[in-house]
This record gives sequence, C-alpha cells and structure tokens, in this order.
Amino acid sequence: MQSEAKFWDKIAPGYAKKPISDVASYEKTMDRVRSYLKATDRVLELGCGTGSTAILLAPLADSYIAGDISGGMLEIGEEKRVAAGVDNLSFRQGATDAFAGERFDVVMGFNLFHLVTDMEADFALIRDMLPEGGLFIQKSPALGRRWYLKPVIAAMRLIGKAPQVRFFGSEELDRAVEAAGFEIIETDTIPPTGPSRFIVARKR
Ligand SMILES: C[S@@+](CC[C@H](N)C(=O)[O-])C[C@H]1O[C@@H](n2cnc3c(N)ncnc32)[C@H](O)[C@@H]1O
Repeated sequence: MQSEAKFWDKIAPGYAKKPISDVASYEKTMDRVRSYLKATDRVLELGCGTGSTAILLAPLADSYIAGDISGGMLEIGEEKRVAAGVDNLSFRQGATDAFAGERFDVVMGFNLFHLVTDMEADFALIRDMLPEGGLFIQKSPALGRRWYLKPVIAAMRLIGKAPQVRFFGSEELDRAVEAAGFEIIETDTIPPTGPSRFIVARKR
C-alpha cells in the first residue's frame, strides 16, 4: 500500500494538470451521479485524486468526505477546495478500510476499484458503511477483454511507471457488487465503446 501511495504521490502534480480526456463521458457520468444525490446525504468518495469531482458534487450533499491513499493528491485537492470555497468537503488520507465503522448515505469511487488490492473486501466494507437503501456508485475500467495490456502494464510496473492493476470484465464487476449485498439499479458503459463500467447499486 505504501509503495502504491508513493507511486500516486509522484504523479499527483502531473495528474492535476492533465485535462479530462473525454469531457462528454465525464459530464454524462456526473449528470447521472447528480441525479441520485440529495441535500441531506453524507457522502464518501474513495480514491478521489485531486478532488475535481468532489468539488463539483459536494455542494449537492450535506457533507462530503473525499479519501485517497496519496497525500500528494489530497494536498492539491485541498488547495483547489479552498480556491473554490466549498465548505462541506473535507479530504482524508486512507484506503477503504480507513473509513470502516463510519456511516454514510452514499459511497462512491471513480477509476479506483481496478487498483485496490481486494475489491471484494472493499465492497463488503462499503456495504457496512451504508444503511439499507444506501447507494454505492462507481465507474471502473473493466479491462477484462484488454488482456493484451497485461504484459505492457507488468513491464511498466517493473520500472515504477504503472500501478497495480486488476483485469476484470463488466460481468465480474457486477457480480462482485451483487455478492457484497447490493441490488444494481443502473449500469452503463461510458463511452459505449468501453471500457468504463458505471454502476449504481442500492444496499439490500
Ligand atoms: C486513476 S486515479 C482516479 C482519481 C479520480 N477518482 C478520478 O477519477 O480522476 C486513482 C486514484 O486512486 C488512488 N488510489 C489508488 N489505490 C487506492 C486505494 N487502495 N485506496 C484509495 N485510493 C487509492 C490514487 O492515489 C489515485 O488518486
């Protein structure tokens, strides 16, 4: 975990400067997420990076905690939060288990769950943070069909140029969400050409 955090710390300044690669897909995703958020919601976003999504969405909720393992990402996020004047957003360093035992109405993670060590364990922790009916929203690269990237990522990882990545398909991801005790209420592939799987699930 420490080496993963270091990897993301190193790329944080560059990540913050990088423009969104597909603005239409990002906006479509944000529109879908916005439609689920309520002014009374306590929201947790995991793997928030430099906080752009958190700054956008926090004004729609009551409180919004944005977590990430990388202190470097969060420092930039905090600067952006202050500049944007978003008062109900706070950043906290940690992976999913750092929030275990806390209660939220909505837990989200974007471009994160292919990077965690044990996605199924994270989903179980998230379920326990939510009340019945609470929402788990994610968008995750479903790279199962892009198996040919595996050796490329493995080689890049050897020289410290790639994080750990798990290859799963959309079906495997959906089944893992359901197995953790959620009912899926919406899925999409955004953009339709893939590979990002968008899922909104409700705790059963
Ligand atoms: C690809 S970036 C995505 C950032 C942001 N969610 C977005 O969509 O732009 C992945 C982020 O997840 C964080 N991360 C990686 N592994 C993590 C873990 N196990 N728990 C929490 N955050 C993690 C990284 O530090 C990084 O900020």
